[in-house]
Amino acid sequence: MSDKAYQICINPDCRETFSTHEVLFDCPKCDSLLDVEYDWDRLAVPSSLEFFEHRWGTKGLKTQGRLDFSGVWRFRELLPFVPPDSIVTIGEGRTLLEENNPLAREIGMKLGHLFLQYEGLNPSGSFKDNGMTAAFSLARRLGRKRVACASTGNTSASLAMFAHKTAPPMQGIVFIGSGKIAFGKLSQALDYGALTLQIEGDFDACLRRVRQVSDKIGLYLMNSVNPFRLEGQKAIMYRVLEARDWEVPDWIICPGGNLGNCSAFGKAFRELHQLGLIKRIPRLAVIVATGANTLYHVHETDNVKWNGGRFDRDKINALYATMEKTHYLPHTIASAIEIAHPVNLPKSLRALDIMNGLVRQVTDEDILEHKALVGRYGFGCEPASAASVAGLRQLLGEQIISPDDHVVCILTGHELKDPDATVKYHTGIDMKSLTPPEPIPPTGTSSNPPRKVADDLEAICEALGERPPS
Ligand code: F0G
Repeated sequence: MSDKAYQICINPDCRETFSTHEVLFDCPKCDSLLDVEYDWDRLAVPSSLEFFEHRWGTKGLKTQGRLDFSGVWRFRELLPFVPPDSIVTIGEGRTLLEENNPLAREIGMKLGHLFLQYEGLNPSGSFKDNGMTAAFSLARRLGRKRVACASTGNTSASLAMFAHKTAPPMQGIVFIGSGKIAFGKLSQALDYGALTLQIEGDFDACLRRVRQVSDKIGLYLMNSVNPFRLEGQKAIMYRVLEARDWEVPDWIICPGGNLGNCSAFGKAFRELHQLGLIKRIPRLAVIVATGANTLYHVHETDNVKWNGGRFDRDKINALYATMEKTHYLPHTIASAIEIAHPVNLPKSLRALDIMNGLVRQVTDEDILEHKALVGRYGFGCEPASAASVAGLRQLLGEQIISPDDHVVCILTGHELKDPDATVKYHTGIDMKSLTPPEPIPPTGTSSNPPRKVADDLEAICEALGERPPS
């Protein structure tokens, strides 16, 4: 199977290929991101998407049935990089597309035209499980024992859950920024038994550091620079189509943070179109927070477009140089997307190109108002997820989206991930200010408190029980 799936550099002037067995998180030749690609002509691809529906009837506990139960592996012919017996699945992707008319009425859409995709219904409460199942399957196939990530919370929760659910279990190591993670998410990483390192600094610092540490001491990296993770996240789009009886909507709207999800969506639609499984591709709107708006700046203000992969890197580098000079730090209530240096920026430009997309920014006030509306009229979501609905309202106001377009907003995380933000919005009480300044030491026999570590290679290796590399 491995020869039918391979890794390839996304840079059109490089296009170096690597086997799926090589552990790489960027191209060794030119540092660009990698894709997973397939030799589709040598693979058994169904001739129509309806093929996947019969798997609803064959789900069960035995091997094939377990895969059919998964909302990712039910579509395994569309991500064929790992043999079925290596797949790690915990029943991810059993999520729901809801037609929400009360919300449609409230924000000015025609009834029957607004759909909410609830990825918070995944086992760990966010869309990340779609990607983790894919990356863990490869990690297991490669015999990896220790997996790591930097996270604003959801990636770490998902990694921690998959790490102890994989057979044999792996050690999960998560890097989180100080004071930068919603308590619901932190509580998951601790409860699932991950070794949690609280680094001085924000997400961007954590990601830089975990990449370095992983490289030095051989941890398997689970952030969205891992191209196999994005393969799993393509399935969110397959499920959206499936729930709409394979009818392609006009718009997909999603929040943007590290920009892995939107990148996966673009790849999913490009492949479906190339395989002749869909006739047209929906448009994409990526919504960022005004306090963490790198993609908005790049795509809309500086007008940097994919351009066949030869996008204007100088403009992006100039923006990053200015950020560094002015000591810019991102800040938004939607802590999940509080990211200034999104690693998948090039792939997101490609997705915007494939899906004729655009980027909008929304304020924290907009995010909280629309989060309250999703709560009032639907099942609720966390702040970052509500950016998609706030973005929809903005695009309706601009008359770019019409009330009778068919629109799918991706609600990426569960309401209960960040109860502090919800309580503060509804009552004005800031739960964080109620935390005692000196935490009381944990007393339970299974307590797994986070360890505070300086943003320093030696200190981190020591915390991991490793001798610092020379
Ligand atoms: N929504 C939620 C709830 C998230 O947790 C994230 C990312 C995003 C949206 C943005 O998705 O990165 O693919 O653009 N959370 C990451 C984390 C960064 O560490 O949990 P993206």
